Amino acid sequence: MTAYSDIQVDTPYNGVQLIRLNRHDAHNALRTALLGELATALAAAAEDKRVRAVVITGSEKVFAAGADIKEMAALDAVGLWKDQRPQHWQTIRSFSKPLIASVNGYCLGGGMELAMHADMIIAGEDARFGQPEINLGIIPGAGGTQRLVRSVGKALAMKLVLSGEFINAREALAAGLVAEVTQPELTLKRATALAETIASKSPIALRLAKEAILASYETPLSQGLELERKAFLFLAATQDRQEGIDAFLEKRPPQFTGQ
Ligand code: CAA
Repeated sequence: MTAYSDIQVDTPYNGVQLIRLNRHDAHNALRTALLGELATALAAAAEDKRVRAVVITGSEKVFAAGADIKEMAALDAVGLWKDQRPQHWQTIRSFSKPLIASVNGYCLGGGMELAMHADMIIAGEDARFGQPEINLGIIPGAGGTQRLVRSVGKALAMKLVLSGEFINAREALAAGLVAEVTQPELTLKRATALAETIASKSPIALRLAKEAILASYETPLSQGLELERKAFLFLAATQDRQEGIDAFLEKRPPQFTGQ
């Protein structure tokens, strides 16, 4: 059993694993050790058949205030180059099961980049999103400049990254950064309920749907459509597809097994 200190990993329940960032004294600043624990936990969740979806959250006041500035201050360019962070981000990025970020309070810098690694963000009305790296004389370093443009478009991405100003949850919803806004005290409950709904679907269909949607960032439309077609045809050979159709016709809930 892996011991974690910077994160808390709950036992899966109803197919959902909850991961909490657990450095509340430092506003959940993402030091390298925390990212390493997160990568380890997600790699384990990827292998764990009990886990069909993951919710990642912070505290009630802060999702994460970004990279750990104190740790970063001690690293020069060579130190940053040798650091394990890119490998940890790569593991997080390649997590193949649905990942939901439940965000309350500040979601800044690397914290916002972490939330954007999730497949969807559920935000409390108290959430504040920003890429304030420019205030430190740097720029986002975990995909912020790239994911933000794809998520909210050039104008807002430029505003956030060049000014360091924050946006609130409603603005983030209007811009397409978040999927839903809730009352602050209901955010985790809603994110978990949504994860449970997702966890009840076919794991194979979920995985291929996630892959196909993420591929749209990387491929021209014609290739993306081809990939979708192949995934669709592949699913026709699964027991889960038969079960889904049988259950519909027999007017009962489906039981998907991932076969
Ligand atoms: N790194 C390290 N420590 C941090 C931190 C961070 N990113 N953010 C907050 N903390 C620490 C503070 O130093 C403070 O610790 P002490 O009590 O030991 O002094 C504690 O958390 C509480 O912080 P504040 O007193 O500042 O709390 P506040 O409520 O007044 O302000 C805040 C909250 C607006 C989030 C403010 O803390 C802040 O601006 N934090 C930095 C945000 C930031 O610049 N993030 C980008 C980091 S760089 C990055 O992320 C690069 C990348 O993309 C890879």
